[in-house]
Amino acid sequence: MVLAPLKRILLVGSGGIALVKLPALIRMLRRQGYELRLVLTENAARFITPLTFETLLDHPVYIDPFARRDNLLHIGLRKWAEMAVLVPGTANMIAKLAHGIADDLASAVLLGAGGTAIPRIVCPAMNDAMWEAPATRRNIEQLIRDGWRMAGPVTGELACGDDAPGRMAEPEEIFRVIESLSAGDKRAPYKIVITAGATEEDIDAVRCITNHSSGRMGAALAEAARERFMDVVCIHGALRVPPPQGVRLIEARSARAMLQAVQSEIADANALVMAAAVADFVPDVKAAGKIKKSGSGMDLHLVPAPDILLETRALRARAGFHTTGFALESDALAEYAQEKLAAKYLDAIVANPCSEPGAGFGSETNRAVYLTKDGAREDWPTMPKREMADRILDRVLLALSETKK
Ligand SMILES: Cc1cc2nc3c(=O)[nH]c(=O)nc-3n(C[C@H](O)[C@H](O)[C@H](O)COP(=O)(O)O)c2cc1C
Repeated sequence: MVLAPLKRILLVGSGGIALVKLPALIRMLRRQGYELRLVLTENAARFITPLTFETLLDHPVYIDPFARRDNLLHIGLRKWAEMAVLVPGTANMIAKLAHGIADDLASAVLLGAGGTAIPRIVCPAMNDAMWEAPATRRNIEQLIRDGWRMAGPVTGELACGDDAPGRMAEPEEIFRVIESLSAGDKRAPYKIVITAGATEEDIDAVRCITNHSSGRMGAALAEAARERFMDVVCIHGALRVPPPQGVRLIEARSARAMLQAVQSEIADANALVMAAAVADFVPDVKAAGKIKKSGSGMDLHLVPAPDILLETRALRARAGFHTTGFALESDALAEYAQEKLAAKYLDAIVANPCSEPGAGFGSETNRAVYLTKDGAREDWPTMPKREMADRILDRVLLALSETKK
């Protein structure tokens, strides 16, 4: 079925400096034939005068819910709109939406848009400390659960001059997300599944076998994928870093649980990046209760853990699906990685050293050899894990776009 493109867009601007980017977005949308209405919060109207927008829109801007021209403005606008975009989204407005507060026209109309489930996009813009505040994280996660799509934020220059996360996505990127939703594609162009962290294999009710993975690489990958507007699912074991923000999180403690989660999530995904450190061996049985201390030793019998890459081979073996694996090696990085690339049916592998300062588990940085099944090899010097995540995703996206052609 071909869906008619959604053309009536309700823009809602809240009070942040990033409002200066809204005129550029309005121009792009109008050029493309979108019909627009704009609601500003009272604070937004203090940043840029409504007259500027009224001139660009050739239409009045709405601010006051009690304006006499239409007593039910918040309902009329919501019924008119086929899509709603909060641009920019302040921490304050995001918090109000997460809690269903409707104390001005902007929040009332967006609350109603959630009720009728029209596509909704939020473009957060704020200082990095506000973006990283636990309350903002909770609120963003709530919006995602409520069906909001996120455009940005990205890491870049903030109004305060710092180079940090929280910068609103550029108008071109927001335009791209609007276009993809307008075309009837209510999902991000690509769904990516990323695993992160260490698995924990229970010995008894209180003890487990795990490893030193911090989850930093997987979290960086999930955030980098989100910034590229992918539909991101992060399946994670134990994390020693904060979980990635603004993505769907699934906790899977053991190798078996992670296998099950990966199997169910990759069924409709385009890509998998296996950055989790999954156990190779697991106890053959989990003792009931707590094994009592006896004063003597005890034998632990380990059996091979499920091999997630091998067991998902059939699910992944379809045209257009891209899998990146990781190999952590103490020596002969490229050689072992090359073997794993073929043995696990991967499209690409990132081989990183475990016995080198500034790389591998727990480190803020990483060094790697990147190999593809087509025989390409890149030697990446030590760099922040986030930068490496960007490199990996650039290559995943390039491969996906090439198979789409
Ligand atoms: C100069 C200035 C810049 C601001 N920039 C932002 C911003 O980028 N993001 C944000 O969340 N809040 C920002 N604020 C704070 C919001 O304006 C404030 O939380 C306000 O209550 C938001 O109201 P609104 O959400 O109803 O528009 C800024 C405030 C000032 C004075």
